[in-house]
Amino acid sequence: MQSHEVRKRFLDFFVERGHKLYPSSSLVPHNDPTVLLTTAGMQQFITYFTGQERPPTPRGTSVQKCFRTVDLEEVGDSTHLTFFEMLGNFSFGDYFKKEAIEWAWEFLTEELKLPPERLWITIFEGNEDAPEDLEAKEHWMRCGVPEERIFGLPRSENWWGPPGDTGPCGPCSEVYYDYGEDLSRGDPQADPKYGPGGDEGDPRFNEIWNLVFNQYEQHKDGTLTPLARPGIDTGMGFERTVAVVQNVRSVYESDLYAPIFERIRQTSGATMGSSEESDRTLYILADHARAMAFLIADGVRPGNQRREYVLRRIIRRATLQAYGRLGIGAEGVADLAEVVVDHMGDVYEELKEAREDIRHVVVAEAARFIEIYDSGMGLLEAEIQRLPGGHFPGDVAFMLHDTYGFPVEVTEEVLAERGISLDEAGFEEAMRLQRERARGALQGHERLVAAFRDREIKSRFVGYEREQVETTVLAVEEAPGSEAGEELHVVLAENPFYATGGGQVADEGWISSEHGQLEVFDVVPAGDYQIIRARRQRGDIEAGDAVTASINRVRRQQIEANHTATHILHWALRAVLGKDVVQACSRSPRTSPFATTRPPWRRLGTSGR
Ligand code: SER
Repeated sequence: MQSHEVRKRFLDFFVERGHKLYPSSSLVPHNDPTVLLTTAGMQQFITYFTGQERPPTPRGTSVQKCFRTVDLEEVGDSTHLTFFEMLGNFSFGDYFKKEAIEWAWEFLTEELKLPPERLWITIFEGNEDAPEDLEAKEHWMRCGVPEERIFGLPRSENWWGPPGDTGPCGPCSEVYYDYGEDLSRGDPQADPKYGPGGDEGDPRFNEIWNLVFNQYEQHKDGTLTPLARPGIDTGMGFERTVAVVQNVRSVYESDLYAPIFERIRQTSGATMGSSEESDRTLYILADHARAMAFLIADGVRPGNQRREYVLRRIIRRATLQAYGRLGIGAEGVADLAEVVVDHMGDVYEELKEAREDIRHVVVAEAARFIEIYDSGMGLLEAEIQRLPGGHFPGDVAFMLHDTYGFPVEVTEEVLAERGISLDEAGFEEAMRLQRERARGALQGHERLVAAFRDREIKSRFVGYEREQVETTVLAVEEAPGSEAGEELHVVLAENPFYATGGGQVADEGWISSEHGQLEVFDVVPAGDYQIIRARRQRGDIEAGDAVTASINRVRRQQIEANHTATHILHWALRAVLGKDVVQACSRSPRTSPFATTRPPWRRLGTSGR
C-alpha cells in the first residue's frame, strides 16, 4: 500500500464514522505561545478540549504536519525525524475510550490488514495522581488482545500532555508493532524492559499509535483538575505506520523518502547502504529537505532565535552534509527541497505556493553557510600549518565555532583525518567562559532593575517634546561595583532621555544641579520608569534634588536621521526583494557596525597570535 493510500484510508475511515475532516494547521502555532512549533495533531484543537471554545462538530480527524526539535541532533540514525505527519482522530467531549480503542483496532487490522498477533499494547500503570487504566485494558482485551501482550507503563511513558506548561492531558495507551522475535533482546514476559516501550524494547517493537484519553487539565502549578468533558486525542505516526504497512524496518526505506534519495543519487551518485557514515548523510538530507520545505512554506525564515534558528540549523546541517560530504552546492540543496514540493505538493498546497520562496531561502542560507564553511576550512588549514602538530588548541576551535559559525564537528573531523587531536577540555572551557560572560551581562541588567524594584516610582518620558527639562530626582543608586561611586543610576520625575527600545539606542546627555553634574551614557527601560546610567562629573546628586536634564541634541539628531534611514532602507528592500525582509535592529552612528573594530580575524590567520 502506497503512503498516500494510507493517508486517504485513515481519513475516510474516520469521516465515515462521523468525524469532520480538518486540514492540517500550520507548523507555526497561532493560538499557543507556549510552544515553538506544532508537535501534535491535537494542538489546533486545544480550546475545544479545554472548553474555551465550542467545536463545530464533536468529532474531528486530520493529518497534521508536525515538527519536533528535541531529536534534532539525533537525526541521522535510522529512526529519528524532525518533520513528520501525524494521523489523528479526536473526540471533543463526545466518545471516549471504548470507541477510540475499538476503531483503532478495526483500522489497523481490517483497513491496514496488519496481523493482530503483531500488535502489542501499553497502558498507564497508575500513580498517586491517577489510577491504573483498567478501563482501557478491558477494551483492548474485548478486541481480542491477550492480556500478556498488554503492558502497564509509568507516567513518564504513558501519559500525554499538556504540549506546553498547561492544558489538557491524561493517561494514554499505545499500540506497538512487533517486528519479530528474532530482533528481541530478551523475553518481555520475563522482564518488561524487553517489551513494548521498555528500555530494551527496540528494535523489536515500533510504536505506531498513541491514544490519549484527555481527562485532566494541568495548571501552572502542576496540579490536575478533571476536564468537564473528557475527550480523545489520538496520534498515529504516519511515517512509521507506512514503514510497517510496507514491511520495511526504517521509515527511510518507505516510499515517502524515495524521491529524495533518487535525486541525491542523480546528483552525487551516493546510494543507501554503502557505509554507515554515508547513510547518515542521506538520512539527514532526507529528513532536513522535508523539514526546510515545510517550515519555509509556513512562513519561517532563517534567523538566530526560536523557530527561525531551528530552520537555520536545519539548512546548515543539511548543507554541511551535502556540500562537505557529497559536493552538492546550495542549488543542489534547494533541489532536494523542491523534490519535496513535487512529491507532497498535492497533499500540502502551501508547498506549491511557496515553491519559489523555498528555493530562494534555501539557496541564500546554504550559500552563506558554504562561505562560512570554505573560509573556516581556510582558517583551520592555516592554523594546522602553523601548529607544531599533534594537538589543536581548544580556544581556537571555539573561536572558529563561535565567531565564524564553523561547526566544531567539522573541525574535529578534519583534525582526526590528519591524526591531530583536539583539546576538548580547552574547547569546553572556552565555551563555559563565553556562557559566563553572557550570564554576567544578563545578571548585570537584572541587578540594575532590581535596585529600584520595590519603590513606587514613576517617571514620565517627555523626550518626544522636549530636549531639556527642569525636574526632580526620584531615586539614585550607586552602580554595583562602580569604583568610588563613579557610576550612578538615576530615576527622574520627568525624563527627556530616550531609553533603548524599538530598535533605537538610548540618548546621552547631562543632569546638573546646584551641587553637581552627571554625564548620562545609557538609559534602560524598566516598566514605569527609565533607569538613567550616568558618570559623576563633579559634586553630587541626591534624591529630591531639583535638576536640569538635557539630552545631547546633536547625537539625538544623528540617531533620528539614522533610524529614519533604516526605515527607508527597509521599505526599499521590501519593495525590491519582497516581504520577507524584516528589520530586526538599528544602531546609532556611534555604535554602527562600520565604526566598531572587526572581529579578530588575524588571531586565526598565519600572522600568529
Ligand atoms: N497528542 C498525542 C501525541 O502526540 C496523541 O496525538 O502523541
